[in-house]
Amino acid sequence: MDKNNERLVIVGGNRLEGEIVVCTSKNAVLPILAASILNSGNTILHNISPITDVFNMLNILSTLGCSYRWDNNNNLYINCAKAHSWEIPPDLAREIRSSIFMLGSILSRFRAAKVSYPGGCDIGIRPIDLHLKGLRDLNVKIKEEHGFIICDGSNMKGGNIHLDYPSVGATENLMMAAVLTEGITQIRNAAKEPEITDLQNFINAMGGKISGAGTSTITIQGVETLSDCEYWPMSDRIIGGTYLIACAICGGKIRVNNCQSEYLYALIAKLRESGCEFSIMPDYIDIECNSRPMTAQIIETLPYPGFPTDLQAPMTALQTISEGTCMIIENMFETRFKHCPELIKMGANITVRDRMAIVRGVESLQGAEVTAMDLRGGAALVLAGLAAKGTTIVNNISHIDRGYYLIEEQFKKLGGQIERIA
Ligand code: EPZ
Repeated sequence: MDKNNERLVIVGGNRLEGEIVVCTSKNAVLPILAASILNSGNTILHNISPITDVFNMLNILSTLGCSYRWDNNNNLYINCAKAHSWEIPPDLAREIRSSIFMLGSILSRFRAAKVSYPGGCDIGIRPIDLHLKGLRDLNVKIKEEHGFIICDGSNMKGGNIHLDYPSVGATENLMMAAVLTEGITQIRNAAKEPEITDLQNFINAMGGKISGAGTSTITIQGVETLSDCEYWPMSDRIIGGTYLIACAICGGKIRVNNCQSEYLYALIAKLRESGCEFSIMPDYIDIECNSRPMTAQIIETLPYPGFPTDLQAPMTALQTISEGTCMIIENMFETRFKHCPELIKMGANITVRDRMAIVRGVESLQGAEVTAMDLRGGAALVLAGLAAKGTTIVNNISHIDRGYYLIEEQFKKLGGQIERIA
């Protein structure tokens, strides 16, 4: 079956009821997979969602000489003892943004690396200048030619890095570059996303010496070798947030299990403004929404702990049927409103200017045929279809499969009428 022709058919209007369990975090697992090559032995990762981006990263690890196998419970067994190459094939690098995370871990282990510019969702320019600037602070010699980044790390040593911007990927890449590099490395103005703390905990479980993740200054003491380890990555706060927003847009009462509520307070505050009621525990969240949501008024995406850019698209979908007008400002990426023209096809009233969208709430959306343009925009269209009157067809759902495993099965569990067809 050609995965690219698959689409979702959604009959909207059902309230959502019941419980759902959140899977492990894509944005924690991808850097952890990159970091697994730091260990010349065995790494066991538990409860890993078999999403497309995980397979893309495993393909890269395989080409570098690592081996892996899954068991029947989504546990992943990786061995990088025979890793021999430090060059990522361009076709694989272009598949995924997090191929760039491999740069730091390959340099840390092999003291050399060659990678082409990364791919990923088309949500903006997505430069890597901060990654490269930080590597130069660790005395890596870098040439950029013919679309490749060629690094000589033969004289790498610990150093002081100050990030111009708290980039998530640059923070993670530079943490990994410093793990097996002699000396002390400090990363200042580091990103504070929870996935960075998860990466720190994983690397320390292998015998690394990192501290400060979750704050603006991270310190890495280089070590000579790492050891076998077993790790349970954190749950996916963006998927957990997507389910909460789905309940708000459809109405209903659900429990989101395996969801670390402390990572979602920016979203919870906005959903409270919308009129949703919560019962919050450390590892699950109950949400109930029984009337038409009120507008959130202003949503501005910011680095953690501000409102997460990855929930901007699902939250925009909610605003389309909320009472009132909402101003949405996307500070993180240049072109992350591609879901708006698709929502307009469903009857939404949205005006987009550069990084701002003005959403005037309508009573309800109408089902229509729409196309996913990126991962989170695709999820937003699914939420809109679940709430719309009539039937919605979402095309190009391979974008959604990059980060949500069988999204239709999850929403069926909550009473959504949704099917995947070829
Ligand atoms: C990570 O992307 C996530 N991806 C993104 O999730 C997420 O949206 C983003 O962090 C912000 O939270 C993964 O973890 C795999 P950044 P990343 O570097 O690392 C600028 C999803 O949907 N910047 O923090 O690429 C950049 O232009 C994905 O799951 C530079 O200027 O994000 C952007 O404006 C989408 N120079 C801002 O920083 C650099 O060298 C944020 O980018 C690097 C980044």
